[in-house]
Amino acid sequence: MNEKQLAAEKSIEFIKNRMILGLGTGSTVFFLVKKLAELVKQGLDITCVSTSNQTSELAKSLGIRISSLNEVEKIDLTIDGADEVDKNLNGIKGGGGALLYEKIVAKASNKVIWIVDSSKYVLQLGKFPLPVEIISFGSNQLLKRFDELGFNPEIRKNGNDNFITDSGNLIVDLHLNEIEDAINLERQIKLIPGVVEVGLFNNIADLVIIGKGNSTEIINRV
Ligand code: 5RP
Repeated sequence: MNEKQLAAEKSIEFIKNRMILGLGTGSTVFFLVKKLAELVKQGLDITCVSTSNQTSELAKSLGIRISSLNEVEKIDLTIDGADEVDKNLNGIKGGGGALLYEKIVAKASNKVIWIVDSSKYVLQLGKFPLPVEIISFGSNQLLKRFDELGFNPEIRKNGNDNFITDSGNLIVDLHLNEIEDAINLERQIKLIPGVVEVGLFNNIADLVIIGKGNSTEIINRV
């Protein structure tokens, strides 16, 4: 079993019958959804809220019930992947372009668990390009602004076309290399007009499950 699958299957232990469960997006969450589908077939009663069309389609195709966020009062637990996470459990997300829904779902959750392979646990955030979701109106102006700020922006592509998020926006990846102050950077970027969401997820994860070799390590927020 690879590290992503190990982390994903370990996270199943935190799921209880009748929970409202938030489902993240990505290749690590793929293993979670597969395992969850097996448990649903065996009688687990669970309602899920998804963070992307990709996850919704996969879950529904495997017989998992998906509700919209507006249909539920609160989410008990959300399990999601991440692109980088540091020892304070701050992280970068949005490699799959689902950061906006992922942040909204995480903020509506009583508890958030991230499942990652060992390469994602880093001393300092920023090697992974920071995804920022922006609206398309005036996007060239925004790119210029990011450039002036020294953020090395790159509009995300899907082949020859721009990558379009589930909510119809664009993604700019900022090649920062290192992030000294994740809290202030999130604020600074979020305040720029045209920015919808930033892939910095600070003080959101309560617990991270890291797949490491043949086993898993759990890091709790202190
Ligand atoms: C999608 C995300 C993913 O959780 C993140 O990119 C990790 O993906 P993977 O599990 O495929 O490595 O934030 O927007």
